[in-house]
Order: sequence, then C-alpha cells, then structure tokens
Amino acid sequence: MLAIESSCDETSASVCADGIILSNIIANQSIHEKYGGVVPELASRAHMQHIVLVVDQALKKAGIELSDLNAIGFTQSPGLIGSLLVGAQFAKSLAVSLDIPLIGVHHMQAHVLANLIEKKSPQFPFLCLTVSGGHTQIVQCNSPLDLEVIGETIDDAAGEAFDKSAKILGLPYPGGPLIDKYAQTGNPKRFKFPEPQIPGLNFSFSGLKTSILYFLQEQKKNNDSFVDENLNDICASIQSRIISILLNKFRKAALENGISELCIAGGVSANSGLRKEFVQMGIDQKWNTYIPSFEYCTDNAGMIAITAYYKYLASDFTSLNSTVSARSEMNQVQ
Ligand code: KG4
Ligand code: ZN
Repeated sequence: MLAIESSCDETSASVCADGIILSNIIANQSIHEKYGGVVPELASRAHMQHIVLVVDQALKKAGIELSDLNAIGFTQSPGLIGSLLVGAQFAKSLAVSLDIPLIGVHHMQAHVLANLIEKKSPQFPFLCLTVSGGHTQIVQCNSPLDLEVIGETIDDAAGEAFDKSAKILGLPYPGGPLIDKYAQTGNPKRFKFPEPQIPGLNFSFSGLKTSILYFLQEQKKNNDSFVDENLNDICASIQSRIISILLNKFRKAALENGISELCIAGGVSANSGLRKEFVQMGIDQKWNTYIPSFEYCTDNAGMIAITAYYKYLASDFTSLNSTVSARSEMNQVQ
C-alpha cells in the first residue's frame, strides 16, 4: 500500500506491507518561515512541486514498483483545503490508473494510530493525548477503527500555544521546537504562568498566551532586553505550564476511565519535556506509556499508511467521487 499525506506543510509518502512501514519520506516546506506561519496557497504549490519526487523516493526505498501496489491511502481531512486536494487528486489518479482501491484517512485518527507502527504498541482500549498544531484531544481508542474523543481544547491547540508564545518572544515559525531547545537549559520554576480551571477533560490555552504577553510587556517596561537575558528560563517556564495543563487532564482521563495503556501523538509529542514527564507519570502511576518515534510524531505518511492498512482489512474503501474536508469531525470520514 502507498499512502500520501499533504494536509498542511509537509509532503509525505509511505509504503506499508502487512502493517509494516517500509518507507516514510517527508519533504518539509521552508518557504513559510519568513511569513511567521503557513501560507495556504504557497503550501499547495509546494505540494505540487514535491509530490512526484516524494512518492518516487518512497517506492524506491521500499524496493517496489507502482504495479506492486494493492491500495492507495491519502489524508482526506482535516487540513488546508488546497493542500488536501493535491494529495487527494494524486491518490485518485493512481487508484484509477492502477485499478486498485482508494482509502481516505482522517488525519487525527492517523496521529493516534501512529502508536501502532512500533513493535512495542499499546493494548486496546488505550487513551491517546493527541497534541498537534491544530488540535488537542484525549481520544479513547477501543480498536483501530473505533475512536472516541473524550476531551479537547475549547480554543487554541497545544502546538498553537507553543507557536504563539514563541512569536511573542520574537522566535521564528514554527516556534515549538525552539522553545523545546531553549527550555533544556532553563529553570522551569522561575516564572509562574496560570493553569486554567476548565471543567471535565477539556483544555484551554488562550489565557496562557495572554498572560505571557502581559507579563513580558510589564517586564520590558523596566528592562528592554528582558527576553534576551532570560530566554531559557522563560521558555522552560512556558513549556512546563503547557505540559502540566496537558498531563493533569490526561491523568484525570486515565483515572476516570480506568485505562492504564496511555499514548501521546502529534507534533507536540516530539517535545522532549513532554516525553520525559509523560514517561515519569507512567512510572509513578504504574501505567504503560507509549510514544511514537520522532518521524511518526510530526506530520508523516507512515501514520496514514498504518490507518489505511486497518481500513483495508475492514474493506473500508473510499469512492472516487469523495471530496476532501477542512473540518475535523472524527466520524466524518469513517
Ligand atoms: O502534528 P503536526 O506536525 O502538524 C499538525 O497536524 O498540526 O504538529 C505541528 C506542531 C507545531 O505547532 C509545532 O510547533 C509543534 O507541533 N512541535 C513542537 C515540537 N515539534 C513540533 N512543539 C513543542 N516541542 C517540539 N519539539
Ligand atoms: Zn498533524
């Protein structure tokens, strides 16, 4: 099976055989850096430039020919509409020309199922904290195709909280990895940012961004170079608060649902502080914790391939008349 991911600013292709990922090629788009965020029109054009090369490399690395393929998976939703269309049209054309089934995949389901790629994978039912640039969800996964969102953000996503905080600090996009880098040598207890009191298993991150903004405005009144002089401690303090918001809710979800198999997924699961504290939470509570390797955390076609594989086993195919969707309802494409 070949799978294609093109929902945002990574063009990726992966070949999977019987649930084993044979290749996972990812082309990043650096063009967005100078704009401080992803520019949708530029993203679609870059996908068109990259897609043939990326698919070709994925096939070569897997050591197979197009004629060996049995199905084509692609990201159907959610994402940037123009970007999704590039991958969808490419997948449809291949499916028609090779006369093989087409399988549309939900990007957020795929982030969760990235945890099934590794040899050491969670037992069902498990809970997954999916933390990406556009979403923050706690998902109960009863089987590969039976997922239920039991908590989510009511405003910004965790990745946005990282990226917007980084922007306030004058760091380039995407700021998440940079905050992670500076935080490693900073003191996370130096500055206290508030933890929102949101009922149930939902999250909120917009207040954090505002409190960082006001805090920095106040500090800069007395010292113009406050950010430069304290960057590591500021980053460590911001990161530590984002992590505590995420893990406090995840711990609550596990206790309330009596589930001790826990995973994290999505771009923010590449964060070194979150990975460390998540594993520590597992040790403290005697829960089993799982984290995809880095290449399957941020957007990648390997996770689309593994999801398409389970859909293939269930003969859950997608019509050539289907369309892509920017929206994210989990049951929309299942
Ligand atoms: O899952 P992903 O690649 O794309 C979406 O589906 O949104 O996630 C991208 C997000 C961005 O907000 C980026 O800043 C964040 O993941 N991210 C990180 C790290 N690596 C990526 N955030 C914090 N620490 C990191 N190391
Ligand atoms: Zn993603």
